[in-house]
Amino acid sequence: MRKLIGILLLIVLLPSSYAYQIPEKGIIYQIMVDRFYDGNKSNNQPFYDPTHSNYRLYWGGDLEGIIENLDYIKSLGVSMIWLSPVNDNINRMASGSAPYHGYWTRDYKRIEEHFGNWRIFKTLVKEAEKRGICIIVDFVPNHSNPATDGEFGSLYDNGTLVTNYYSDSKNATLNPYTGSLEDIYHHNGNIKIWEGFELKYGNLFGLADFNQLNPWVDGYLKDGASLFVRSGICGFRIDAVKHMDLGWLTQFYAHLYMQEPLFIFGEYYKINFEKDDDMFYFYQYSNVSSQLSIPIRNDIVRTFAFGGSLKTLARELEEYYSHFVYPNKAVNFLDNHDLPRYLSESKNLDRYHMALSLVMTLPGIPVIYYGDESYLVSKEGKGDPYNRPMMKFDNQTEAARIIRILAELRKKNNALAYGNFEAIYADYNTWVFERNFGSEKVLVVVNKVDSKNLTLSLNWSNGIYRDVLYGVKMQVKDGKAEISAPKNKVLVFSYEGKQEKPLIGSITPYIAQPDQKIILGGAGFGKSGNVFIEGVRAEVLEWSDEMIVFRMPKLNTQKAWVDVYVETDGKRSNKVKLRYLNGNEEAFLLVLNASNLMGQIWIKGNISELAEPIPLMRSRTGYYFQVISLPINTSFSVDLYSGLPWEKLEPLNMTLYGESINKTIILTKTKQAPKYTQTITRTTIQSPSTSICGAGLILMLSLIVLLKKR
Ligand code: NOJ
Ligand code: CA
Repeated sequence: MRKLIGILLLIVLLPSSYAYQIPEKGIIYQIMVDRFYDGNKSNNQPFYDPTHSNYRLYWGGDLEGIIENLDYIKSLGVSMIWLSPVNDNINRMASGSAPYHGYWTRDYKRIEEHFGNWRIFKTLVKEAEKRGICIIVDFVPNHSNPATDGEFGSLYDNGTLVTNYYSDSKNATLNPYTGSLEDIYHHNGNIKIWEGFELKYGNLFGLADFNQLNPWVDGYLKDGASLFVRSGICGFRIDAVKHMDLGWLTQFYAHLYMQEPLFIFGEYYKINFEKDDDMFYFYQYSNVSSQLSIPIRNDIVRTFAFGGSLKTLARELEEYYSHFVYPNKAVNFLDNHDLPRYLSESKNLDRYHMALSLVMTLPGIPVIYYGDESYLVSKEGKGDPYNRPMMKFDNQTEAARIIRILAELRKKNNALAYGNFEAIYADYNTWVFERNFGSEKVLVVVNKVDSKNLTLSLNWSNGIYRDVLYGVKMQVKDGKAEISAPKNKVLVFSYEGKQEKPLIGSITPYIAQPDQKIILGGAGFGKSGNVFIEGVRAEVLEWSDEMIVFRMPKLNTQKAWVDVYVETDGKRSNKVKLRYLNGNEEAFLLVLNASNLMGQIWIKGNISELAEPIPLMRSRTGYYFQVISLPINTSFSVDLYSGLPWEKLEPLNMTLYGESINKTIILTKTKQAPKYTQTITRTTIQSPSTSICGAGLILMLSLIVLLKKR
């Protein structure tokens, strides 16, 4: 009996087995759990609408409903499912809505009872895995639930009440450096100015905003997310990354990546394409994790649903992708739960199929929003919540056929997953682009006008090629291709040569600290070989012709990005970039007392974490600050720069020093770390009145005295 209990315990405690997937090789199916399929009628109440007419109530969908339909999902060629948030949400209505969408969490350690429990969640992971599909969970670390309605920001730790927004406000203190009033939550009002301090430290649409620098919050969110990792998921979609410090997210991701080589992508909500400061920050985030391609979605939909130049779209997309270190890790979509569905905006199915084919062939990983394959529309053409109708199952449509064929091609032809992106012809109505990866190639022909005869220069072997979607012919002779492109179709031609030399196309994750497992995807890896990072040989854990798993070695470098390459049979691969972290990462608040400085200040330092310029924020309390992921107990120096995003930075010829010992690091002019430091922990926090007028003031005064002494 004891033996049996021991074995059972081991099964419960051990992480689920993990089948590695290369994200770029697959496609994602996005599901709003409540609106997919009701697999268990007993969990529908309360706030349930069996008539499916009130879009703000639960409609019955659950995890068991997804398990029942895994074969349907697989029939579309899907390899990853992105679930809307499944953590336990509030048990009340707020702003006239039930939390059927899952974005109003109250307990990050539990599963929402309308959707199932941990046992059912793990069953879903296992059943999906049997079908070659892995699960990506939507996780919401920016905020819990509405602060002034519903359960008022109530937060539970595996069933035990921790706080709510009002009792937390009683414990809140003013952080003298950032000017933020905070405890577990920030108490800085709602976001009204959509930039700077408010963007990160205000409540997003009234949602109780977490103070992630509070060590309890930091640990709680890491533990909550780790429960999913231990249940065998392969990635996260992180909600509202725009509203959190990049430095906190970096070490949060690093913590999760130490457990498994996950695929994490962020939601940075930026609806247009302008090259403004916001776009600059979007690209900055993309150096840490993939991002949803929200900025290009409207341009794609507009060009197909309404009109517009394909030549302009081609130029815009090339410019967009040119800023990414890893454009093939962008996450592309036509529809999602925050925007009106495409077919509600325009009914032309031919054009819809074109847009869908484009999303499936652009650089980046395609997302199919549930029902894209069955032409689901938003009620009355509206967005949230009307873009979340009940699922209609139909995998026999033309859209489903396109999805299936192009998902299969992505598995077979690495050019779709890893290839470059180059327009070889573009005018207002016609666009031809090529994707190349070593000996593999894909040619995509997009044509919105009457049948058009194209003669193109194309470096493919002589022969006749058939497009994979409609069988249209392309003849290639001596570097010239002839195609007669039909109206309102996207044609996709494929050339799959044998890759003789090792070629790396993908690295997951592309940010790493020592000991982390990393997956390389590519071709021509052969049967065995070596992986080198900055010339240091890594321990190889798995090796096959198209996939390698290795363990990140410790490096002696101050660089941000390091080179990775592979050697097999004396042949060396291309080099790919990896963002290096020294390890033992934590989030620190870096503070600069610089009353003599003005404008936008940047820092650049002598350790990998600080090797790329980082913009500082200016607080209303007169400090410059930024949250940074740093290795603990490490001394470093930073140089100061001034300038604006997109511009060349001017050095200020000033070097400052810090040590990552306490949560708040005040940069000093000498190498000696200051003796005073304020650690932001729950225990040191006092009531607002004493902290602002008392302890906070004493701290600031002693700081000024100490700095003056130097
Ligand atoms: C973005 C999500 O996509 C949206 O649906 C949600 O309401 C907000 N973040 C807040 O969590
Ligand atoms: Ca925030």
